[in-house]
Amino acid sequence: MEKFLVENSPPLQGVVRISGSKNSVLPILAASLLMENPCVIKEVPDLRDVDIMDQLLRYMGAHVSRDKESGIFSVQSDSFLLQEAPYELVSQMRASFLIIGPLLARTGRAKVPLPGGCNLGARPIDLHLKGFQAMGANIDIDHGYVIAKADKLQGCNIYLDFPSVGATENIMTAAVTAVGQTVIENCAVEPEIVDLANFLNRCGGDIKGAGTDTIKINGVARLKSGEISHAVIPDRIEAGTFMVGAAVTKGNIVLENVLADHLRPVIAKLKEAKITVEEREDGLHVVADKEERPAGIDVKTLPYPGFPTDMQAQFMALLTQAKGTSVVTETVFESRFTHVGELKRMGADIKIESRSAVIEGVDHLMGAQVKATDLRAGAALVLSALKAQGQTEIGEIEHIDRGYERIEEKLQKLGANIKRIQCA
Ligand code: UD1
Repeated sequence: MEKFLVENSPPLQGVVRISGSKNSVLPILAASLLMENPCVIKEVPDLRDVDIMDQLLRYMGAHVSRDKESGIFSVQSDSFLLQEAPYELVSQMRASFLIIGPLLARTGRAKVPLPGGCNLGARPIDLHLKGFQAMGANIDIDHGYVIAKADKLQGCNIYLDFPSVGATENIMTAAVTAVGQTVIENCAVEPEIVDLANFLNRCGGDIKGAGTDTIKINGVARLKSGEISHAVIPDRIEAGTFMVGAAVTKGNIVLENVLADHLRPVIAKLKEAKITVEEREDGLHVVADKEERPAGIDVKTLPYPGFPTDMQAQFMALLTQAKGTSVVTETVFESRFTHVGELKRMGADIKIESRSAVIEGVDHLMGAQVKATDLRAGAALVLSALKAQGQTEIGEIEHIDRGYERIEEKLQKLGANIKRIQCA
């Protein structure tokens, strides 16, 4: 077991390079199961979730070689693929469910455990399954497994009741080799959807409209031969997390390898809180006033291009120490406030009223023993601890390692007092 020990730190200062996007690379790796030819994926972050996807692909029969240092992940699924995914791996990561679309398309049958509940609430998969059924698949739920069968998926029109990221990705991937055209309406428009569509098009797919609310996929009989190479987009959530780190500590940092266009709502809300953000040639500069506390603001999470739910906890960390009252409203997930109890242990003044958290900013937080209850909740605790008085001990940091590449090393380079310790 490992923990983070964080001491009150000086303002973050310096340059940080943002890694490839977790939420892009996971669906891309899952989709690589469609391809018989080698796929070379670049800018792959060294994350626990990528380790799980790596194990899952190997288990299913793909040949994987990976260089964690250079971030190059090569995968080839040229031989026989298993059709049943193991509970032990799928239960560790919800994104594992993204293999069902490509497996079904490639082999005509897929048996994958239901991802189950998680710390963010029930998180159903009904929209994924409705999409496959509309494409002619037969779906059974049996002893905790989803069993999907289809000799050949058929193109069709699918309207998503909610623009689910995962459902859009699973259906889009399954539709690449279906017969005829598939149209997904009210689909997700996140940058990661566009990245996946670009990857699939490189593989020989014919996808148009990714990034808008209607995606059209013309099924192709064969995918491309030869090697495919694709570089994953930068992680907008990791970038946002470091931006908030600069804001919390009254720092001055430059982020390299970012796409500011993917961060519009985060930049807008930081500016509203009186943090300076400037797009320059050498990167994104984030500068906070050395004396003034940030201003309290209201934040409401929404599907892209709204404010990302994956930045909600980190913003709450900032707002606990802002001037005045802030209201944070979570509309994407039914239960995503597990960090509130931990932040309160550090002296934050937060009240939950239904889907909103009302935060009265305090002058400073206090170090305490806390635990990461999920990935972004863990990031919020790290950010809070940087400015809290005294020492904070953060447990269950395996959640943080799921989605941040050596966060403590990147923060140390910016001057933070954080170290990873082994404990019994
Ligand atoms: C992805 C991201 C996650 C992010 C989320 C929302 C990955 C690997 N994960 O998760 O980091 O927080 O998008 O931006 O990319 N829903 C249904 N039925 C379904 C599917 C979803 O009701 O079949 C609901 C969910 O319960 C949730 C909402 O839709 O309330 C959003 O979920 P979704 O967009 O599917 O998120 P994920 O793809 O799981």
